[in-house]
Amino acid sequence: MSQIWFITGASSGFGLDLALLALDAGHKVIGTVRSTSKASDAVSAIKSKGAEVVELDVTKADTIADVVEKANAFYGGIDILVNNAGYSLLGAVEDMKDEEAQLQMETNFFGPLRLIRGFLPTLRSRSSTGTTIVNVSSIAAQSPYPSCGLYSASKYALEGLSEALAQEIAPFNITTLIVEPGAFRTNFLSAVQKTETPLSEPYRGGPVEHLLGMFDSAQGKQRGDPGKAVKRVFEVVTGTGEAGGLKGKVLRLPLGPDCVGRIEGAMKKLQSDWDETREVAMGTDFD
Ligand SMILES: NC(=O)c1ccc[n+]([C@@H]2O[C@H](COP(=O)([O-])OP(=O)(O)OC[C@H]3O[C@@H](n4cnc5c(N)ncnc54)[C@H](OP(=O)(O)O)[C@@H]3O)[C@@H](O)[C@H]2O)c1
Ligand SMILES: *[C@@H]1O[C@H](CO)[C@@H](O)[C@H](O)[C@H]1NC(C)=O
Ligand SMILES: *[C@@H]1O[C@H](CO)[C@@H](O)[C@H](O)[C@H]1NC(C)=O
Repeated sequence: MSQIWFITGASSGFGLDLALLALDAGHKVIGTVRSTSKASDAVSAIKSKGAEVVELDVTKADTIADVVEKANAFYGGIDILVNNAGYSLLGAVEDMKDEEAQLQMETNFFGPLRLIRGFLPTLRSRSSTGTTIVNVSSIAAQSPYPSCGLYSASKYALEGLSEALAQEIAPFNITTLIVEPGAFRTNFLSAVQKTETPLSEPYRGGPVEHLLGMFDSAQGKQRGDPGKAVKRVFEVVTGTGEAGGLKGKVLRLPLGPDCVGRIEGAMKKLQSDWDETREVAMGTDFD
């Protein structure tokens, strides 16, 4: 069955790959890019396969209603909203300025929130066809590294909201999926925004600097293949192929062996903190 996808950040990486895959499978796609001229190669690639393209900067709150209206006009609504656009701010939390923190939250959290609210009426009205909201989160929401404080916070926020919303909209027959990729070879590490303030002296030689160095040298060498990642996402959303059996069954879709390893580590740590603190936690009611 052909469905209508709205994918943010279709200019590169996961967004572009998912748009191409859905188009090749005979679906309709509305892709958003911040600038059609800057992303002209991606725009021609998806348009030549039949996609519609809309300009959208997810941080521009007052443009969202217009974009939703435009998108709904192409095919009479959408079936699948993919909140994919995002980037990471990197640096020591102590060095992060308010404006940098705000832009990170606007892009990775408030933008998706506004799109969700904007598209829920059409998603609700078309839900007999099985509508879905996909939020691209990150392993950083389960296992944050030093230097990724605000990025992890933005993805945690997205996941917290998603957990509540998933329960709110389940009665409308709308499925929700949180995708948690590990490290994949997209433009992501080239697009990171380092804090404007250079790493403060006390952090030099410590865990933040170590991670910053690691990210610098990882670009282009990430083990994850984004083509394979978006294929899994497509299968879970459409209930087809190898991963199709997971449709509607799971809230979170981790992707990549690195992601699995880090999540398993985080779960062990959570469990051991739980075991250690249980007795203390249980003793706080009125007698
Ligand atoms: N690759 C990884 O290792 C990895 C791991 C975990 C999670 N993720 C998540 O995956 C998602 C996609 O990233 P990617 O890996 O595909 O990286 P990417 O190749 O850098 O693509 C990011 C996309 O987001 C768009 N974008 C950024 N800020 C935006 C804004 N304010 N408004 C609209 N669009 C904006 C970019 O558009 P422009 O071309 O206009 O900049 C681009 O299309 C992100 O949410 C990221 O956090 C990636
Ligand atoms: C809910 O969506 C599924 C497709 O995922 C569809 O088969 C089913 O009929 C829908 N149920 C209702 C009550 O609309
Ligand atoms: C996606 O994120 C938005 C905004 O943070 C939230 O409202 C929604 O619940 C999330 N949806 C899913 C399916 O995770």
